[in-house]
Amino acid sequence: MLVVNTKKALRELIKGYKSKGKTIGFVPTMGALHEGHISLIQAANQASDITISSIFVNPKQFNNSEDLQKYPRTAQADTDQLKEAGCDVLFMPSESEVYLDGETLQLSFGSLEHVMEGAFRPGHFSGVGLIVSKLFNLIQPDKAYFGLKDLQQCTVISKLVADLDFPVEIIKMPTVRAHDGLALSSRNARLNPSERTAATILYRSLIHAQSLLSKGVAVKEVIDHSKSMIAQEPLAQLDYFEVVDTKELKPLTNVQGQNEVAICIACFIGSVRLIDNLVFIP
Ligand code: PAF
Repeated sequence: MLVVNTKKALRELIKGYKSKGKTIGFVPTMGALHEGHISLIQAANQASDITISSIFVNPKQFNNSEDLQKYPRTAQADTDQLKEAGCDVLFMPSESEVYLDGETLQLSFGSLEHVMEGAFRPGHFSGVGLIVSKLFNLIQPDKAYFGLKDLQQCTVISKLVADLDFPVEIIKMPTVRAHDGLALSSRNARLNPSERTAATILYRSLIHAQSLLSKGVAVKEVIDHSKSMIAQEPLAQLDYFEVVDTKELKPLTNVQGQNEVAICIACFIGSVRLIDNLVFIP
C-alpha cells in the first residue's frame, strides 16, 4: 500500500492511474477504523481497479472543540488495517496540506441544515461538503463509499454530487453492528465499560420504536414512548429522536403511505455523542 501525504504526490499518482484507464474506488475516513470502514474497503476492492482511502480528522466539520480534541487518532493501527484489507493507496495529509490559512468556502444544504444533525451541529455539513469536494477533486473516483449509519451525511453527499455535477457514483453501505446491536463508530472507542453497556440504548430504542410503528401506533406516541425509555438510562442524554422520510429527512407525523421511513437518534452517552438510525418500510 502506498502512503501519500501531499496533494502533489496524490495528483501525480491519479494522473498515472487515469492514463492507464484504471477505475478508482474511494473510501474517505477520519481514521480510528473499525469493521464498518473495512466493509467499505472490501466493497471498493470488488468494484474498482484501485482502492484509495483517506484519513483526515477534518477540523471544519467539528462544532465542538472537545469532540475534535478527543477524536480517537490511531494512525499506525489504521494503516495496518487498510494494508491488510487490500487498500492500494492511503492519503493521509496534515491540516496545513489540506487547508490554506484563512477562511474557507461555506456550503449550505438547504432544508437538510434545519433537521437533526444539521440543526444540532451548525456548520457540520458545510465542513463535510468542503472536505469531500476537495477529496473528490483530488482523487477523481469513479465510485465513493459512505456508511448509512450517517444517514443524513449520505443525503448531503448525494445532494453535493448532484448539484456540483461530480462524476462519481455514491455507494451507501449498510451499518455494521456489534453483537449487541451497537452501531460501530470511531467514537465508541471513547466509551468506558459502563458507558459501552449503556450505549445499547440507542439500538434498543430504535428496534422498540420500529415494532410500535409496525403495529400502527401513532408517531407522536412512539416518539414519547421511546424518549421515556431513553430517559430511564442514567448515562444517556438525548439530543433528538425522530421519525423521518428518507428523501428529505423531514419529520413525519404519520408513516402510513410512506415508501420508506427512517427512525433516527442522536444521544450522548456520558460525554460521547453517538448517532444511529433504522430504515424500514412501514
Ligand atoms: O464520515 C466521516 O468519517 C467523515 O464525515 C468524512 C466523510 C470522512 C468527511 O470528513
